[in-house]
This record gives sequence, structure tokens and C-alpha cells, in this order.
Amino acid sequence: MYSKEVMDHFSNPRNVGEIENPDGKGEVGNPVCGDIMKITILVDENDIIADVKFQTLGCGAAIATSSVTTEMAKGRSVAHALKITRDMVAEELHGLPPQKLHCSNLAADALHAAIKDYLKKNGRSIDEFKE
Ligand code: FES
Repeated sequence: MYSKEVMDHFSNPRNVGEIENPDGKGEVGNPVCGDIMKITILVDENDIIADVKFQTLGCGAAIATSSVTTEMAKGRSVAHALKITRDMVAEELHGLPPQKLHCSNLAADALHAAIKDYLKKNGRSIDEFKE
């Protein structure tokens, strides 16, 4: 039922934890199941996400989607990370069972929330990334 990519990230999640004194922090809850996801980021002077970590009180699919999302964002620019969608996360994992698709929302949403927090702290707006 789960792809081998999901099982890999679930059994061996990457970037678990919380960054101390992060440049941005995003926390979101999943309205469907009530699970929670927190993502913290460090951003360098060139707007590159130098480090990213996640913590979740969520299911196995939430763990796998968060893990893969942190890998998709790490070392990439803030502009690139803002374009990571829920669908891209599910695709990167070679699909999720339909009843688990909502779990992939948490990770992308928490990442975007962390970036928005970073921009806000620096007096910037998400609008500068809108095309
Ligand atoms: Fe809640 Fe998957 S069931 S995140």
C-alpha cells in the first residue's frame, strides 16, 4: 500500500528535531486528523535554506512527507522552497494512498509558514516572490 520511498523516509526520517534560534518557524495543524507539524529553518544571507528540521505529532505518512519535504528544501533558495507544493511532495514519494493524501499537506504548509515567519521577521513580504 505504501511506496518504498514512503517506507524509507518513515523508517529513516531525515532532518528530525528543532533548530535552536531558528530564522523561521512554522507550525500547522491538520484539520482532518488534528495532527501537528513544526518546521524550523536557518536561512543564510543569500536567502538559501541552510538547515531545516521538523517535528511532528502525526502519522507515518506525515513523518515520511515531512522528511522528504525537508530534503527538497535544504540547500535551496527561499523562492524555490515556496514553490514546493503538496502535490510535489506526494509525487516525490511516488504517491500516497488516497486516504493519506491530506497528510502531505502538513509538511508543505509548515515549510511555507516557516518561510513566511522568516520574511516577516526581516520586514519582507511574500509578495516579492509572486510572479
Ligand atoms: Fe494525521 Fe496523517 S493522519 S497527518
